[in-house]
Formats: sequence, C-alpha cells, structure tokens
Amino acid sequence: MKKILVTGGCGYIGSHTLLDLIGHGYEVISVDNNSRSNTRLIQGVEKITGRKIKNYKVDLCDFDDTHAIFAENDDIAGVIHFAAYKAVGESVERPLLYYQNNLASLINLLRCIEEYQVPYFVFSSSCTVYGNPDSIPVTEETPQKPAESPYGSTKQMGETIIQAFAQKSSTQCILLRYFNPAGAHPSALIGELPIDRPQNLTPVITQTAIGKIPQLTVFGNDYPTRDGSCLRDFIHVCDLAHAHTLAIQFLIEKKNKSNCEVFNLGTGDGITVLEAIRAFEDVNDVKLNYTIGPRRPGDVVAIYANKDKAEQQLGWKPKFTLRDIMETAWKWEKQLQEDETLFTQQNSRLN
Ligand code: WQD
Repeated sequence: MKKILVTGGCGYIGSHTLLDLIGHGYEVISVDNNSRSNTRLIQGVEKITGRKIKNYKVDLCDFDDTHAIFAENDDIAGVIHFAAYKAVGESVERPLLYYQNNLASLINLLRCIEEYQVPYFVFSSSCTVYGNPDSIPVTEETPQKPAESPYGSTKQMGETIIQAFAQKSSTQCILLRYFNPAGAHPSALIGELPIDRPQNLTPVITQTAIGKIPQLTVFGNDYPTRDGSCLRDFIHVCDLAHAHTLAIQFLIEKKNKSNCEVFNLGTGDGITVLEAIRAFEDVNDVKLNYTIGPRRPGDVVAIYANKDKAEQQLGWKPKFTLRDIMETAWKWEKQLQEDETLFTQQNSRLN
C-alpha cells in the first residue's frame, strides 16, 4: 500500500483528499500545524473511513521538524502539498506573512523530497495564476498575467520553484490549478471550516442563510458579464479531491510526458455570482438576504476552465453540479449549527 503524505490534511481540500486517497487504497499521513485549522475535519475522515489518521502537528517553515517526518517515514511514495495561507484580502494586508509562510514551507518540503528521493509531488496551485485572462475559458497554455494579490503571486512563484526543482530532480511533479472549490462531502461530516469570518462566496452564502452573517454583499454588478456580477467556475471539493488521487495514479503509471505537468481543475462552466446565489435559493428553498455593493479590489472579472487536458489525460470527470455544491454546503452549515447548539447545551449543563 503506497504511503502519501498530505500537507494541510486538517484543512478543507486536504481532508477531502485524505478521504479519497483512503477510498482508493492508499495509506495516508498528514502534516498540519493547525494554525488555520483544527482536528474536526480529520476526525470526520476517521469517522467516515473507520481508520485512524496520523497528523504531525508541525510547521513546515521549521526545516528540522519537517525533516524529522521524512526520517520517520522513509517509505513516503508521494507528497500532496496543500498547506498554505489562502486569503486573498489578508495577503494584500500582510504580504510578508504570505511570502514567508507559503514559500519557506514549500522550499523546506522540496529539500526533504530531494533528500529522500520521494518519487511523486502534487502541488495545490490556483487559477489565480492567470490573473485577469484576455480570453476564456483558459487552458493550461493561457499566458499568466501579473498576480492580482500576494497570495496569487506565491502560487506563481511556487510553480516556478517547482518547475526549476523538477528539472534537476528525479521526482515527478504535477501542478493542479483549482478554480473555485466549494461544497462539502454529502455525509456532512466534513466540509469547509473557516476559522474566522469567511472570504469565499459559498461559505459567506451559507453563513448568511444560517444567520451568522446579517447580509451578503455582492461585490459589484456593473461588470461586463451577462448579469453584471463576476463570473467563476465552481468545482465541488469531492471532484477536486478525486483529481489528486488520479494525479498520483497518473505518475505511478508513468503517463506523464514531462517531469512537471500542469492541469486545470474546473467544471468548464462559467457561473456568475448572482446565478450562484439563485442556485442556492432554489435548491434549498431559502431566501438569501443580500445587497449589491462596490467592487472588491483585485477581483478577476471572469474566468472559467477549459478542462480537456485533465479529462483526457487524468481521466477526470467532475460529477457534482452547482446545485449539488449549494445543497451539500447548506447541509454542512446546518450540521455545524446543530453541533454548536449541542456543545453549548452540554457546556451549560456542566457549569
Ligand atoms: C468569488 C466571487 C467575489 C464574497 C479566491 C482565490 C482562489 C481560491 C478561491 C483558494 C468574486 C464574489 C465573494 C462575498 C461576493 N483560493 N463575492 N461577496 O476571489 O474568485 O478566488 O478564492 O482556494 O485561488 O483567488 O473567490 O469566493 O472570494 O470570490 O460578491 O461576500 O464572489 O467578488 O467575484 P475568488 P471568492
């Protein structure tokens, strides 16, 4: 059974990927310092699979601590690297925090992968590397534009570092460019768990619907799109997770033509912000309290994926729809509220 190290395994996409890897016969270990996560999601994966998962609570910016994981697990066949800060707005406010964290952790990891000659490496990249594309849908060959934020720039720099590393290493690498991850596992045992106020659209929608956020603001409806709001490509987190398993399998079967392959991971459907809100309201029969506000600086006007390469080469076929995204996201938000209510009741009985 091949062992895969998942960094950021306690996070949103990391936990769903742990689940998918286990379901496809892999042994998994996680490293996550829980600076932006807690153990709830990995416990959810354990509940679904009935398997215990080892998480090393280590900061990848500490080389010695990172190295110790590889010394203890010299049979790691592959690494899937999610652990990074990802809030676009925060990265504008605190650029050095983002460059330091996202790049130092990546370089430490690659140094260990090189020393232990780990055969496979999959990197969590983002459609943000395309900036504001001149034409859509974007393919993997669409030229990159200057990043709109330090977060996006750490993804572009990360890809450059990995491409240079791959030229001089026996490790076979894949860069996966996510579009907009959303939704939750149908069991509602794992999902997106923002530590503080969410930035991304879908958790803001569900927290508005449940009453945690009083009103959602649509950041602009005067864009050159079919209804004036921004256009995005929302991909269900379970489809996204499965693409990582397929990427590892692709490398094991030596199907890669170069030692650093790039794949877009989006549905190929462009959906506007207002259409996403309407889909949420329709599928859940919930009226959302929202207003139209000013544009958000740094927002890309419109982007969605040409997913042909991932479909043809990885055999990846996204199966969840936008309605599934909004239904599973809402089910997860209601589960969170139920658990919080139960926790509060138990606490009040104890005090
Ligand atoms: C989507 C649209 C907002 C909140 C970023 C990163 C990407 C990935 C996902 C990590 C935009 C609008 C949002 C709100 C709104 N990062 N919106 N009101 O900016 O497309 O992508 O997050 O995985 O790499 O670039 O995602 O969800 O923040 O915004 O109107 O309260 O929803 O303006 O048009 P984004 P997002």
